[in-house]
Amino acid sequence: MASLPKPSVAPKTQVSVVLGSQWGDEGKGKLTDILAADVDICARCAGGNNAGHTIVANIGPDNVKTKFDFHLLPSGLVNPRCIGFLGSGVVVHVPSLFSELDTLEKKGLKCDGRLFVSDRAHLVFDFHQVVDGLKEVELGGSSIGTTKKGIGPAYSSKASRSGLRVHHLYDFELFANKFRKLVEGRFKRYGNFEYDTEGEIARYRAFAERLRPLIVDGVTFIHSALASNRRILVEGANALMLDLDYGTYPFVTSSSTGIGGVCTGLGIPPLAIGTVVGVMKAYTSRVGAGPFPTELFDETCVHLQEVGAEYGTTTGRRRRCGWLDLVMMRYSCLINGYTCMNLTKLDVLDGIKEIKVATGYRYQGKELTSFPADLSVLAKVEVEYKTFPGWEGPISEVTEYSQLPDTCRAYVEYLEDFMGIPITWVGVGPGRLSMLRR
Ligand code: GDP
Ligand code: IMO
Ligand code: MG
Repeated sequence: MASLPKPSVAPKTQVSVVLGSQWGDEGKGKLTDILAADVDICARCAGGNNAGHTIVANIGPDNVKTKFDFHLLPSGLVNPRCIGFLGSGVVVHVPSLFSELDTLEKKGLKCDGRLFVSDRAHLVFDFHQVVDGLKEVELGGSSIGTTKKGIGPAYSSKASRSGLRVHHLYDFELFANKFRKLVEGRFKRYGNFEYDTEGEIARYRAFAERLRPLIVDGVTFIHSALASNRRILVEGANALMLDLDYGTYPFVTSSSTGIGGVCTGLGIPPLAIGTVVGVMKAYTSRVGAGPFPTELFDETCVHLQEVGAEYGTTTGRRRRCGWLDLVMMRYSCLINGYTCMNLTKLDVLDGIKEIKVATGYRYQGKELTSFPADLSVLAKVEVEYKTFPGWEGPISEVTEYSQLPDTCRAYVEYLEDFMGIPITWVGVGPGRLSMLRR
């Protein structure tokens, strides 16, 4: 086939990846924005608008400090030279895509000709979102606490082979028939919830036209970019502990959020990947339900929530907070194979007298040698902690790693040693400049 680039056996490694290593909201967006300055393409490979990535950057000729909240679109778009790409593994809610684009344009970011969407990506519809809510109600006290963006139901449609993909929009009669069948199926399962099927189909006819210039064959797009030595940055969404296979199932999202999802979601081989940066908070946070061994309920939790502004970008929910869990981090490092780490929000620990990190789990008196799959075990583990003296701070004005207080550096270096992976980036504030490079 002439249009497909010729495969190459030589490792390419021009793809860099940013992945969440904990339960999300580690600060992936901020690092992505920083790294986007040196890439041609920033891609999302999995998830949908359940993600919430906040970027604080000075933009435009007047250098105005601006806050951006990305959900579905890649954060790399803040850089005006960067092209955004939604890969085949992403689930796309088209109205949200447009409203996010419109918001960016209103903030002065021109995105015309800078965003492309794989024709193999699956679509999320409003009825998926309704069903997301109904499923949660059905679960009652054991609900997952989803973002209600329809992510689980859309990936369920995909896995059950009845989902609709972007390319289906361009054979509209077929699209409309499949759509009706899909909604009928949901009615049968969940009762006749209020939903204007025909109105939605009509809306999608218009959406399809607006979307048309953005659609590409995702495989040709990414492999042509690789063949012409374009630098590609993959922005992970959600995080490893929310991964469908390796997270705390069933309190997870419905996609592969780890390194495997990068290959399947973009259609690229592992040898195309060079750097894999794991983003980790200096403590732990979690939104939604599920076990959290190092969770705190005391004044330190309030400190982390307030100083760390731990409120969800997507749902506005207050995030649960606790100490950093190195047992979980080792598990995360094994699965994703990070080549280096970005420790974030170290400044949030300023002023805490004693800082703890989890270094082991015991269950029924015995040391566990794994991160347990069984949540009833995880919920009962006894956590072993190492305690560190804190530092006064503030560290947010520090510009060199060597200027950090001794106790602060001792904390960072212990984490690095425990994980066996270099901490190359240290975040000391939300802005672009508040990032120490070691
Ligand atoms: P993401 O989902 O991984 O991109 O993370 P979120 O954007 O949801 O949450 C991280 C929040 O912390 C955002 O509001 C960032 O602006 C902020 N942030 C990122 N890095 C740092 C840091 O090093 N220090 C502080 N104080 N805030 C940070
Ligand atoms: P970013 O990219 C934090 C959580 C939800 C819920 C579970 C399932 O900003 O780090 P879903 O709507 O995906 O079916 O919800 O996963 N969750 C996140 N938590 N950050 C995220 O993304 C998340 N994406 C999903 O809170 O517990
Ligand atoms: Mg987030």
